[in-house]
Amino acid sequence: MDHILVKELKEARRSCGLSQAMLAARINVAPQVVKRLEVGIGSVTTLVAAKAALDFQLNGIGPGRTLGDQIRGRRLRKGLSLEALARRTKLSRATIASLEQGNGSVRSLLRLLSVIAPNARRRAKERAFWGAGDKLDRDSRFTPPDFMEHIYAAFGEIDLDPCAHLLSPVIARRHIILSEGGDGLVDDWSGRLAFMNPPFSALLIWLKRAFAQWQAGHVETVVCLVPVRSDSAWFHETLSPVADIYLLQGRVRFLDSEGKGQPTPFSLMLLTLGASTEQRMRFASLVPGFWMTRAPDMAGPSMTT
Ligand SMILES: C[S@@+](CC[C@H](N)C(=O)[O-])C[C@H]1O[C@@H](n2cnc3c(N)ncnc32)[C@H](O)[C@@H]1O
Repeated sequence: MDHILVKELKEARRSCGLSQAMLAARINVAPQVVKRLEVGIGSVTTLVAAKAALDFQLNGIGPGRTLGDQIRGRRLRKGLSLEALARRTKLSRATIASLEQGNGSVRSLLRLLSVIAPNARRRAKERAFWGAGDKLDRDSRFTPPDFMEHIYAAFGEIDLDPCAHLLSPVIARRHIILSEGGDGLVDDWSGRLAFMNPPFSALLIWLKRAFAQWQAGHVETVVCLVPVRSDSAWFHETLSPVADIYLLQGRVRFLDSEGKGQPTPFSLMLLTLGASTEQRMRFASLVPGFWMTRAPDMAGPSMTT
């Protein structure tokens, strides 16, 4: 009964500033129903409604639009038939099938999750930046190898990582490494393809550097993995007219210095300069998200600031 799903539900409600009665009103049930839900008793449909009302999401089950889809996906990924999972969980096949349809009881759901997804974690709430409370090394989060595989497959071999790190798994012909005396904001970027996942606390400076090196013809194509941050006039006036922007669905788990995946509490985009249509299409076939289309005649009025 102590699966994270129930343990953190109360905390999620409190962090939204809601009483049990307020959450109950939001999802149209009696306050008693919420109270019982918070100790693991109730129906999956009510639980799903409460999760949606609190924007409470779990990481670590699997892809899928609904909890039922995620559970089914997880079972299939583990190569388990309904019978095999029934044996392991001591639930009936019909109960598991019902849970995979988004029905059933929370009690059964928790038993199922404790077997197929014991390490599921609550997804961090979205923020615009790493928080002040995050570790000091928040600018040294490394792009995970599975995401890099998609970059290599879509764009080809990387000539340069201009803000590299000795512990980073990014494979490139040349790395500019601060601790070895390099400076990606000063040293030339040369080559066909540069891949940049820069320190996010200095994002604008790095985007300006990438743009300048690309515009000067030092590098043919630049691929940047960065937060979706589009507030500056420079972004609107100078960068966005020439950049292609892919809004990523889901979040990338960057690696810390020990190689552990860290939740990223904000949305990310891939911003490319000089990438071909073919490269961009290949990327879209590998990673969920979409390339934004530009409609210059529909741009809004400029801000003076
Ligand atoms: C977010 S990490 C990404 C590392 C690597 N590019 C990756 O994707 O795994 C950004 C790195 O930029 C490095 N860095 C910061 N300022 C730099 C500079 N002026 N020149 C080169 N690297 C820098 C930091 O050491 C940090 O490790």
